[in-house]
Amino acid sequence: MPTTPPISLDVNGFFDHLIGPRGLSRAEVDAEAARVGAIIDRLEGRRVAGELPFYELPHDLESIAAVNELADDLKGRFDTLLVLGIGGSALGTKTVIDAVGRGPGGMRVEVLDNVDPTTIASVLSSVDLARTAVNVISKSGQTAETMSQFLIVRDRLRGELGADAYGAHVIATTDPESGTLRSLADDEGFRTLSVPPRVGGRFSVLSPVGLLPIAAAGINIDELCEGARSMDARTRSRDVWANPAALHALLLHLAATEGGRNIHVLMPYSDGLLRFGEWYGQLWAESLGKRFDLDGGLAEVGQSPVRALGATDQHSQVQLYIEGPHDKVITFIRVARHHADLTIPPSYQDIDGISYLCGHTLGELLNMEQRATELALAAAGRMTSLIEIQRVDAGTMGQLFHLFEVQTLVAGGLLGIDPLDQPGVEAGKRLTYAMAGRAGYEELVGEVEEQLAKKREDLVLG
Ligand code: PA5
Repeated sequence: MPTTPPISLDVNGFFDHLIGPRGLSRAEVDAEAARVGAIIDRLEGRRVAGELPFYELPHDLESIAAVNELADDLKGRFDTLLVLGIGGSALGTKTVIDAVGRGPGGMRVEVLDNVDPTTIASVLSSVDLARTAVNVISKSGQTAETMSQFLIVRDRLRGELGADAYGAHVIATTDPESGTLRSLADDEGFRTLSVPPRVGGRFSVLSPVGLLPIAAAGINIDELCEGARSMDARTRSRDVWANPAALHALLLHLAATEGGRNIHVLMPYSDGLLRFGEWYGQLWAESLGKRFDLDGGLAEVGQSPVRALGATDQHSQVQLYIEGPHDKVITFIRVARHHADLTIPPSYQDIDGISYLCGHTLGELLNMEQRATELALAAAGRMTSLIEIQRVDAGTMGQLFHLFEVQTLVAGGLLGIDPLDQPGVEAGKRLTYAMAGRAGYEELVGEVEEQLAKKREDLVLG
């Protein structure tokens, strides 16, 4: 039985009956329904053929139980878990911990997902390494940022605990067979967890990549996966009007291709969900931003994801959304019941300018602000959609992750591109290797130097 109420998707804000002539008509959407149904069929076929194993992650009860066991073991031996990873190896964990918060008996989980020395030095100076476990996460096992973090942290651990003892503090999450981190972990005897083959970083939050640190933080990963399973049941339908992932993908696609709305703003009215926008941003940008289509033709497509926060950004971004170019779609996330709510006390009853606030809760005010922004955008002919969740908890996060993952695959199908690769990211990684002197990348050094030599001094001020 589901433990978390289902989330709802309200797409009225895409349509002409609400926003006027710039909106879509139901007939326009119906005309594309068969095409979307065919995409869902193809995804289902690839799923059955084992080509899209991320779908099965929340169903893998054995692996979820094994992660819970390891997390319990860590909680018994350590106070802090230091997660080393970047991109898809870190964002899901940060998203859930930010949204749900550390649970009962949970460890302090610190995610180092950059190589900013100021941050890393500060975190390292704040942890007791004798009471700290380290989870180094890299699917490829060789990402420069993650490996640099690891070399620094390993050195500190060895220095403090000794060459024989430090390995018991390290868990490596990586490819089950190949890669530098895998062979290093095997040589050193680190405990390991596997990133299932063919699960890309940005689709890996419900694999051991995200599940271990999330469980270590005391958050219920059974509920998280149960939420994803319940969304899986909804997003298998080939009927676009019964499948929220398919419908949202299609509407966003039409908004971009028919209406030039090439920016998608995700605007939760919840501080805890701001990070979800970051996770979504990676998923949408890295999956859909592609130069070539599946036939090798030039495509150069992708809708730019933007993060905003309600109500804060009503006082900055929303002016642009309402009156600027018609190049955006705004998706709100609204929380029906906030965890803690505060009632505004009945002070200054005689001052009209503020007395109207008295008696409302802050949660009510936040949700009124969301509704007001939605209606103001509609009145200005701007496209919006609204995801309503009952509360921010693990089950809801599981639903959101799965909804957006499937939506991304359907959007990739509509664009005719491969949403699972990331050649642009790989290009940047290779140039970094060349600049840092990695063997095998010498040829690229010349390319870097040639490009830098083109820079003109007169265009550099200061
Ligand atoms: O989604 C992706 O594939 C990327 O963001 C990767 O997660 C990121 O580049 C880190 O790669 P890796 O896990 O191989 O270190």
